Amino acid sequence: MMVNSTGSAGSKHLIALVGFGTVATGLCKILLEKREHLSAAHGFDFEIVAVSTRSRGTIYNPQGFSLPELINLSQSTTPFENHLQDWDSEAMIRKSNATVVVELAHTDLNTAEPALTHCRAAFETGKHVISGNKGPAAIAYSELSALASKHKLLFLNEATVLSGTPVFSFVHNTLGGNRIKRIRGILNGTTNFILSEMQSGSSYESTLAVAADRGYLEADPAADIEGYDAQAKLAILANILLDTPLELGQVKRSGISSITSEDIKAAEQEGKRWKLVGTLSIENNTVQAEVKAEKLPLDDPLAQVMGTLNAITFSTDLLGDITITGPGAGSIETGYSILSDLLILNGQETS
Ligand code: HSE
Repeated sequence: MMVNSTGSAGSKHLIALVGFGTVATGLCKILLEKREHLSAAHGFDFEIVAVSTRSRGTIYNPQGFSLPELINLSQSTTPFENHLQDWDSEAMIRKSNATVVVELAHTDLNTAEPALTHCRAAFETGKHVISGNKGPAAIAYSELSALASKHKLLFLNEATVLSGTPVFSFVHNTLGGNRIKRIRGILNGTTNFILSEMQSGSSYESTLAVAADRGYLEADPAADIEGYDAQAKLAILANILLDTPLELGQVKRSGISSITSEDIKAAEQEGKRWKLVGTLSIENNTVQAEVKAEKLPLDDPLAQVMGTLNAITFSTDLLGDITITGPGAGSIETGYSILSDLLILNGQETS
């Protein structure tokens, strides 16, 4: 049983947002539009009680902020004024009345900080974690999932791979009973967009500039172009779906920077397309993991995935290959994945 903002028993989820960028904005917009539906159809009731940022400060209202007010605030970059607290993100997590922390701070694939500290603080103070940040699940999944279990809390990461397109819930809920023998996917939207545009005749440099303009790129574009982002997503897939923890360094990695327009044209003449593909192969309980550019024949479902779309083919023992495809990035799309994890949390607490 949770305690709501008025201190009485109830099932209202009190959400703290760590980070207030495009994903948080997308989530707020969805929650505003769907509040009544989510309550009526799913018994999902919530308030956003706290928001912390690196540059604008932390705001806290234990009764919950109005969503239009938050959306309005998200359109600006000036320091917060009303409801300001002298808290950094960790203090907000430890001291607020939140029941669930949504971790959307910047991704660091070397240390997973500050998100790792945020997750530990949340679990130590009895709060669930829904992370859109790839660092914790790529680098410290075993530790954090054990800590969450110890405190009977959830650590959910749907947003980290394929954005709002379901991956973890799909495998857990829909593919149950299958053994997964291989996972192969287009896991990075930026590089898929660049390769698709180059196929239409645009240059690598001009396409990279468009990708930057549209906000597809990671803070360090090398994370996309050189395959680090896809490498982290492969590690997350292994950590969450295969019970086989992988260190990032165990995932071989190369990117797309060496692929030229000539390479793309030559592949086209062979009836093939270049794609940045991440593969996890499981044999005799050993996992091989690699991200690299591959020339795929057009009858491979992954060859048909264009632009910023992502896709994963799961090779299973009972069903053969199942491919899911959908958005791999975006404000509403990734905001939706946070909502889908909130609904999992809600389902568990009301069951
Ligand atoms: N930069 C990432 C991509 C964002 O392009 O796929 C979503 O993880």
